Amino acid sequence: MTRKLFVTTALPYANANFHIGHIMEYTQADVWVRFQRMRGQEVHFVCADDAHGAPIMIAAEKAGITPQQFVANIAAGRKSYLDGFHISFDNWHSTDGPENHELSQDVYRALRSNELIGVKTIEQFFDPEKSMFLPDRFIKGECPKCGAKDQYGDSCEVCGAVYTPTDLKNPFSVLTGATPVMKSSEHYFFKLSDPRCIAFLEEWTQTPGRLQPEVFNKIKEWFAKDEEGNGGLGDWDISRDAPYFGIEIPDAPGKYFYVWLDAPIGYLASLKNYFNKTGRDFDAFFADESVEQVHFIGKDITYFHTLFWPAMLHFSGRKTPDHVFVHGFMTVNNGEKMSKSRGTGLDPMKYLGLGLNAEWLRYYIAAKLNAKVEDIDFNPEDFVARINSDLVGKYINIASRAAGFLSKRFDGHLSGDLGVEGRSLLDALRAQAEVIAELYEEREFGKALRETMLLADKVNEYVDQNKPWELAKKEGMEAVLHDVCSVCIEAFRLLTIYLKPVLPALAAKVETFLRVEPLQFADAARAMGPHQIGAYEHLMQRVDAMMVEALFEAPPAPKVVPGGEDIAPEIKIDDFSKVDLRIAKIVKAEHVEGSDKLLRLTLDAGEGRLRNVFSGIKSAYQPEQLEGKLTVMVANLAPRKMKFGISEGMVLAASHADEKTNPGIFVLEPFPGAQPGMRVR
Ligand code: 2FM
Ligand code: ZN
Repeated sequence: MTRKLFVTTALPYANANFHIGHIMEYTQADVWVRFQRMRGQEVHFVCADDAHGAPIMIAAEKAGITPQQFVANIAAGRKSYLDGFHISFDNWHSTDGPENHELSQDVYRALRSNELIGVKTIEQFFDPEKSMFLPDRFIKGECPKCGAKDQYGDSCEVCGAVYTPTDLKNPFSVLTGATPVMKSSEHYFFKLSDPRCIAFLEEWTQTPGRLQPEVFNKIKEWFAKDEEGNGGLGDWDISRDAPYFGIEIPDAPGKYFYVWLDAPIGYLASLKNYFNKTGRDFDAFFADESVEQVHFIGKDITYFHTLFWPAMLHFSGRKTPDHVFVHGFMTVNNGEKMSKSRGTGLDPMKYLGLGLNAEWLRYYIAAKLNAKVEDIDFNPEDFVARINSDLVGKYINIASRAAGFLSKRFDGHLSGDLGVEGRSLLDALRAQAEVIAELYEEREFGKALRETMLLADKVNEYVDQNKPWELAKKEGMEAVLHDVCSVCIEAFRLLTIYLKPVLPALAAKVETFLRVEPLQFADAARAMGPHQIGAYEHLMQRVDAMMVEALFEAPPAPKVVPGGEDIAPEIKIDDFSKVDLRIAKIVKAEHVEGSDKLLRLTLDAGEGRLRNVFSGIKSAYQPEQLEGKLTVMVANLAPRKMKFGISEGMVLAASHADEKTNPGIFVLEPFPGAQPGMRVR
């Protein structure tokens, strides 16, 4: 029977591009998904951006854009990574999409009807300048234990002490520097300590096959209470006060769901969005008992996925996950702190940009993965060795050794006979199909690849014994040469089936070369039979160790300027040329009534019309100092509506990063000879 699989990876926060940890997780899930598809299963593989929360709201504010725009910018960069590494999601959505707003509110209402929502008044640090409650990460101060300065609100990086923000000495808001004050507010809680929840979760987590044994053991610790009855599952604070970028809590003005409530619901929202787009019935599918729901996640978010998430689903009357597959972290060089010259890790985009083959990394990651929650390490020397000796040396080599003779001597026709020895070799390869399939199923990818490479070794032994290059020179050995090379090609096809979940792009090239339909796992049981293959073109290069070196070379260190502000991330010349800078004449400069920051400038940028620009330079200049001077303006900035009128551009000026402690604004002026309207480039 065809299995129906709903598979997800953790939804990444939309505040940064992917790092190697994301690519590792997506590769793990993608290999499993591709394997399932090759078995003929119905798979829906989705992900989304995790859009909400205070950090994203604050980052957007700093960038001067809305959180929606901020998230959209990050989302726009996702495709090049996913395509680049052959990650075959069926859909990519956002937790800020309408489906998630609706589903999250539905889940909440159901929990509330089940009397699992409570309200408690709690006291928290509040930034009086910013008028907002401060998440722990946005409060710093002196460690209560060792007195180290500038420590976060949850733990000390110097002595390792763990505490709450209220324990900090001389606390301050990271956002404004203000001293936070204690303020109380009502918070909404999911009553996880309710006996119904505890009973449900104890049973759910114990269900055989659902969780890895080491994950289950960890959960048992979370359930445990000490002798005084402390510990165990506590109620979960699911609300945050405005201002917050998130989903509004029904019937609770000014309250939003904590990002971790709506994030996992985003799995369902992405599937729903996908089904709506493709005309399928999400509700029917999600209610279908035969659908298996599978989440791939990292070990750091186990708590959310094995306690909160199943409880939310169950007590809102929904089906719960069938499997939560937890993986470890990916380290580079055993987590060694990279020196300046060696850079700071493996940047996936740099990897692709250097022209390194994405499937080398997929192979390397898969070869290191197993079903346990173990960290895996990227080691550059090991990487080069594995790709060059296993993948190219053992596997690709089989095709390149046989294909030339077949096309030159037999016009690409395979022989029908193959000989006793050849047939028994191929039988041995076919006999491993189910073993390898089972290893993929169990996420023992390292073992699956090792088994496959053992088979490749056998094939290479056969080639070495039969020496087609010698057969080709001997008279009367034509038929034997034909058989030997045909055996090699059939063996290569079988190995390709076993490698295809890991190497999908390579497998597609092999399919073209062999002139076969997309390979399925069941094709291992069938011989290719008499057949004419296409011309062989080289399928995969060896890794050049120099390229891997380059991957870890640090970019030139950014210069820190006297203003104390780091140089912004590198851009391409195209990015720069988007900004149209022009020489402009300040025709008129005047005070703006009611503003202590702005001057109104009338500028001539040589367009045959004048522009009105508000500029925050009042503290530095008297209008008459400016009139008649030339300066540089951004001429293609979208007009902005300001309190005092529309501003049609921007004048360039230099200042320190922190104008408060280091005042001074200096408007740019070109060397003599520049004319209004000239482009600055
Ligand atoms: O840890 C993280 O990166 C979270 N954004 C993962 C969310 S997974 C799911 F719940 F959405
Ligand atoms: Zn300390």
